Amino acid sequence: MAKLTVNDLNVRGKRVLMRVDYNVPLDEKDGQMAITDATRIVETLPTLRLLIERGAKVILAAHLGRPKGKREASMSLRPVAAKLADLLGRPVAFVDDCIGEKVEKTVGLLQPGDVLVLENTRFYSEEEANNASFAEELSRVADVYVNDAFGAAHRAHASTEGVARAVTKRGGQCAAGLLMERELKFLGDELEHPARPFVVILGGAKVSDKIQVIDRLLEKADAVLIGGAMAYTFRMAQGCRTGKSLVEPDKTDVAKAALAKAKDRGVNFLLPIDDVVATPVQTENLDKKGKSVLNYQNVRVNRELNCPEDAAGLDIGPATVEAYAAEIAQAKTILWNGPMGLFEDKRFAEGTNAIARAVAEATQTLGAKSIIGGGDSVKALNKAGLGNQVSFMSTGGGASLEFLEGKELPGVAALSDKF
Ligand code: 3PG
Ligand code: MG
Repeated sequence: MAKLTVNDLNVRGKRVLMRVDYNVPLDEKDGQMAITDATRIVETLPTLRLLIERGAKVILAAHLGRPKGKREASMSLRPVAAKLADLLGRPVAFVDDCIGEKVEKTVGLLQPGDVLVLENTRFYSEEEANNASFAEELSRVADVYVNDAFGAAHRAHASTEGVARAVTKRGGQCAAGLLMERELKFLGDELEHPARPFVVILGGAKVSDKIQVIDRLLEKADAVLIGGAMAYTFRMAQGCRTGKSLVEPDKTDVAKAALAKAKDRGVNFLLPIDDVVATPVQTENLDKKGKSVLNYQNVRVNRELNCPEDAAGLDIGPATVEAYAAEIAQAKTILWNGPMGLFEDKRFAEGTNAIARAVAEATQTLGAKSIIGGGDSVKALNKAGLGNQVSFMSTGGGASLEFLEGKELPGVAALSDKF
């Protein structure tokens, strides 16, 4: 059922508690935390401007990082509040807690049109536990609750789900923000009835991460183009040699089932026909998880379906790019989720960049509607400077995937129905 949206509300003079996903990437610079990508903040501005214009007292709740119930100075939302003030071009207040007396006092001083940012909700372990009395505490400053945090809507946490229940219980309204509404429209309605041909591009490392999305989209898509390391699990399922490529041998049955379903439904299911491979060599450097960092040597294009014994496949090759670009150029609707290779290394970024260019081109000159399902594909598009040349980029990572799998998002389910 359709959910109430912020447009349906009368908020003049009311305290509007709005959940946003300000879980933005930060980097320490001269002892200060600096935001490296403010997209998630920028995308909430339309909802904020609407609420300000209509005279609401806006109180923003969010999480940042995974502090696991402890106060972590590096995960404070203070720098985010400062960035928001810059972007809005007006003062934004900040209070270093999200519940309690200090919060209630500060909220009591707000005037219509004022904006206040609360401290990281995850400084309390009750947030992720979706503790009911913590949710009640949060709801004390809410006459109305708005959820604009699509990126966190797959979490049933106190500030996303519990607080909506608390507000509803006492007869209050809970509405979707404009960003939430847009995300649900593009990732939901637009893909439910796509203009055809509908071409789905899926990449990333693991079949296991994407199999439910693949399964669901096989019922909608005209063509599915596969890239990233997950292509090797499909190749293994077909009996090809995969060398040292990343594979999930226990997922070959799942891969086979997807291939069979594609055939059954007449979906054009494309796997890479060539790839960029390299020989991995262990170094003495350790990554964050304590695993030896690999150095890739002897980078070359492999023109057959079997991967050389000593090599790993790390990007799609030029013939694959050409074949995929031709499909993309025919499309009227495009959904892209997941990079085509190890794009963080520029030797293996060309496949992802070429797909980004093809998607942008199809959108700009051929009138296709292109929807980018969040996470690494958004990063890749932005890195290629093409972020503004697609129809829609999701601010969700895990949330977009779960939504595309057809799951109900708890943060959305908890909102009030539209009459
Ligand atoms: C995200 O960045 O994926 C969302 O903000 C949710 O954060 P989480 O994965 O730590 O729950
Ligand atoms: Mg996440």
